[in-house]
Amino acid sequence: MDSSPLQNARYVYKPKLPAILRGPADRIGVVAGAAAEPATDRERLRSIFPLTYGKTRVDFASGANPSLGKKLTVGVILSGGPAPGGHNVIAGLFDGLKAGNRESRLYGFRGGPGGLVEDKFMEIDAALVDRYRNTGGFDLIGSGRTKIETPEQFAKALETAKRRKLDAVVVIGGDDSNTNAALLAEYFAEAGRKDPGTAPIAVVGVPKTIDGDLKNDAIETSFGFDTATKIYSELIGNIERDAASSRKYWHFIKLMGRSASHIALECAFQCRPNVTLISEEVEARSMSLRQIVDQIARSVVLRSEKSENFGVVLIPEGLIEFVPEVKLLIEEINDILASGEHEFKALSSFVDHKAFVLERLTEPSAQVYESLPRGIQEQLLWDRDPHGNVQVSRIETEKLLVEMVKARLADLASADAYRGKFDYQTHFFGYEGRCGFPSNFDADYCYSLGYTAFVLAASGLSGYLASVRNLAEGADKWAAGGVPLISMMNMERRHGADKPVIRKALVELEGVPFKKFAAQREEWAQSSDYRFPGPVQYFGPSEVVDTPTTTLVLEHAARAGKADGR
Ligand code: FBP
Repeated sequence: MDSSPLQNARYVYKPKLPAILRGPADRIGVVAGAAAEPATDRERLRSIFPLTYGKTRVDFASGANPSLGKKLTVGVILSGGPAPGGHNVIAGLFDGLKAGNRESRLYGFRGGPGGLVEDKFMEIDAALVDRYRNTGGFDLIGSGRTKIETPEQFAKALETAKRRKLDAVVVIGGDDSNTNAALLAEYFAEAGRKDPGTAPIAVVGVPKTIDGDLKNDAIETSFGFDTATKIYSELIGNIERDAASSRKYWHFIKLMGRSASHIALECAFQCRPNVTLISEEVEARSMSLRQIVDQIARSVVLRSEKSENFGVVLIPEGLIEFVPEVKLLIEEINDILASGEHEFKALSSFVDHKAFVLERLTEPSAQVYESLPRGIQEQLLWDRDPHGNVQVSRIETEKLLVEMVKARLADLASADAYRGKFDYQTHFFGYEGRCGFPSNFDADYCYSLGYTAFVLAASGLSGYLASVRNLAEGADKWAAGGVPLISMMNMERRHGADKPVIRKALVELEGVPFKKFAAQREEWAQSSDYRFPGPVQYFGPSEVVDTPTTTLVLEHAARAGKADGR
């Protein structure tokens, strides 16, 4: 294979590990930590997870742990959208297994959770891992969004696990995939209870998603967020320079992040664009589409008065679902599509699909639907993902907003309240950030998460999410352990029914990152004080190659009681 010079350099990069994971493999002790109960819906969750409910957190500390020397067979799954660093989770897991016992084996289930159900696997050996160390992508074993939900799928997953004599399954995924991991852990525990002769099979999760919305006090960030936001920020900075050089376009940039606006917020800190919409604020303030458009138009008008007929607007991918009137509309459509799935699918034209939905929508939602451009109407009816979510990456919110801003500016111009010139470009930055070479931070974090998953799996700790913390400090000071998956869950409506799911961490309007952003945005709306982060760097001074995201640093400072984020 003709590898690039950077590829070759990254193959030999040695990820930095927390001190606790650097010692001999059998000296990583596991100690019980704080009790960890879900914040809400405790009784419902206890009844759904009778065998795996009520575990405590666990922390790693120096001490004997003979379990780590056992010969193990572990299966690993990459689930959902790719995120930079997934290969390093596998590398850390592999190296941990081999450090524990040279005879341990690692199987990769191909193409996501479906690989476990269908028993599509490959053995991962040292030569294979070495070809993927510190590289982006999920192509080592592939990923998929199959949800294990029917009794047949659970039974087949168990059959595979038994056939392959697995001691553990490691699921690398986001909130939905780790919800699935919790259900699998319960199912395997139930199988063990029914048949005490069956060897226990642990299920361990690893927090992945560029969206950054799988986090809480034990999970400081999901892997991939660091690299993806750095890649987007490089591109946004380049566009800002182009805007300021050419002085002729407003750039409307939609950024990935299916629900939460963490990516948009982080990129705002890095690049200081003129307008950044935060979906969570739109929802909290019950903003209508019209109010959002007014917010953008205001910046356009103010800047035009200084002859700055250019600018940059960041739009979180999930925005549309947070506009209360559209949110309600989408919820109603979700229920209609879930209950009338067969009838709906039997119809072939958009006109018929639209009529089917309109007949069943409430009057206010039907009006909102009718007010949207045809393209958006069609996109709202496209297939949901297997977890029941609208595929927001396919909804062209940036184009919708451009059209609405254009119309608003025309109104203002006819009232003599705007004399500028409005020309625009639209962009969507999403897929280009998901498979880049992981930053040093993600390379180190992911390798540590993989090693942590090994310790949890070898210790027989099922239903846990690997947790590496203290991430704003140098890797040397990171702490590692596990947090029970159920402790992060609540009940939510999915596919027309109440389901247990891991709670998404949205941007907190009372949190330090949002407040810091809110304090600066008025200045950014009017000025051209852009910031240019440049590309992700792998060689050079630590402040260039190792600095984590501003979001992580601010949240860390807030936890440490430094409210100003320093
Ligand atoms: P995960 O939650 O699985 O990590 O995926 C996140 C994401 O990248 C979102 O930002 C985006 O909306 C979605 O995946 C796109 O999914 P797909 O790859 O199926 O188009």
